[in-house]
Amino acid sequence: VVSRAVLAVAAAALVAGVGLSAAPGAAAGVHDHRGYPAALAVGEPTRRFTLTAGVRGAAWAFNGQVPGPELAVTVGDVVEVTLRNRDIEQGVTLHWHGYDVPNAQDGVPGVTQDAVRPGQEFVYRFRADQPGTYWYHTHEASSLGVRKGLFGVFVVRPAAVTGVDRVVGGPFVERVRPGTPVRLRLVNTGNTTHRYAPAGAPFRVAAIDGVDLRGPTDLTDTAVAIPAGGRYDLTLTAPATPITLFVDGKATYSTVAATATATAASAAPIAAASTRTWPVLDPLTYGSAAPAPWPRADREFTLVLDRGIDLRRLVPRYAHTVGGAAYPHIPNQTVRRGETVEFTVVNRALVVHPWHLHGFHVLVLSRNGVRATGSPLWLDSFDVRPGEVWEVTFRADNPGVWANHCHNLPHADAGMMLHLTVG
Ligand code: C2O
Ligand code: CU
Repeated sequence: VVSRAVLAVAAAALVAGVGLSAAPGAAAGVHDHRGYPAALAVGEPTRRFTLTAGVRGAAWAFNGQVPGPELAVTVGDVVEVTLRNRDIEQGVTLHWHGYDVPNAQDGVPGVTQDAVRPGQEFVYRFRADQPGTYWYHTHEASSLGVRKGLFGVFVVRPAAVTGVDRVVGGPFVERVRPGTPVRLRLVNTGNTTHRYAPAGAPFRVAAIDGVDLRGPTDLTDTAVAIPAGGRYDLTLTAPATPITLFVDGKATYSTVAATATATAASAAPIAAASTRTWPVLDPLTYGSAAPAPWPRADREFTLVLDRGIDLRRLVPRYAHTVGGAAYPHIPNQTVRRGETVEFTVVNRALVVHPWHLHGFHVLVLSRNGVRATGSPLWLDSFDVRPGEVWEVTFRADNPGVWANHCHNLPHADAGMMLHLTVG
C-alpha cells in the first residue's frame, strides 16, 4: 500500500540521532521542582525527535514546515522530543494536546516549565502507552503561535497496523486498492468547529479524542462536527470508486482508485457535488452504552462561561470570562489525588466555547440534563454551545497543576483559562 510506505519514510526522516547533550531536568530524578512526577524514569528513549522552531517568512515553523512534522510512534515507545527555539522572540513550548502526559511534560509556560527562548532548548520525555490521534502545539502566546504554524500531529499507533492509516490534514490523494481497510485521522487544529463528511463509502467513528468507541455502527450521508482541538478517527473499507472528504460542505480531499480507468472517472463526480451538507452525528447517542456505573463524585464544581469585565486591562473591558472573571482571577480548583471529580460547564455566552482540560480525558455524563446514552465518551475537547450545560467527570489520578480552558485560543489568551490542581 503506497501511503504506508510514504508515511514510514516521512517518520524515519524525523528521527534525529541526538540525545548526547544533557537534557534539562534529566538529572532531576523522578519529581520536578514542585514535587510532581517528572516521568524522567521512563527508560531509554526508543524514538527521538528534534523540533526546531523558527521564523519562516510570515509563518512560524517547526523544522521549516507548517504544519510541523507528523510524529508517529508505537505503543510501548519511550518518546524523547527535543524542542529548540531558533529565533521566535515570544518563546515556544510543546503541549501534547489530548495526550495525558505527566505534569512536568505538559508544556504550559509559567506552570510546568519556562518558555523556551531563542537559543534555548527543552527535552520532553514520556512513555507512549495511550494509542490514538493527538497533536502538539506551542502553549506560549498560543493564539498567535498556533495561527502562525507552530503545531503538528502526534499519533500513537497500536503495535500492529493493517491497511492504510492516514492523518488527514495535508494532501489526501491516495491510491487505495478496493477492499483495503482505511483509517482517517482527522485533527481540527483551528479555533472553531469544522464539519467533516467522507462521501462514497459507509464509515464508522472508531475513536474520538484518541479513545476507541464501543460498538460504532455504519454511517452514510452523515457529517461529524469536530470541536477546536478535537480529533475523530474514521474507519472505512476502500470501495472501488473514489472517496471524497467534505470539510464544511466543500469537497476537499479525495482518493483515487487503484486503476487508471477509475482515476480518470474520479474527477467528474467530485466537481459535480463539490458542496453538500449532511446531518451531523451526535456522539452522545452513538455506539453502545457501557453497563458499568460510574462512582459518585467526591468533588463537584461548576464553570459558568459568560461575558464579564476583565479587570486586568488598563481600561477594564468586556471579555470572555468564567463566572465574570478572567485569568488569573478565576478561582482555581483543587482536588485530591484519586478523587472522582465532576464538573459542569454552563455556557451563558452567545458564542461556542470549545472546552479543553489538560492531563485527563473526561467522561461525558449529560448535556442539557439528558444523559449520554451511546458509547462511553471520553473527551479532552468538547464544544459547549450557547445555552448548553455539560456534566463531565474524571478520576484525578494524574497529579499536578493542569490548565483548563477554552480552546478558541484568542479566548484563552484573553483570560478564559483556569488551573486545576491535583495534589
Ligand atoms: Cu491544545 Cu491548553 O491546549
Ligand atoms: Cu471560548
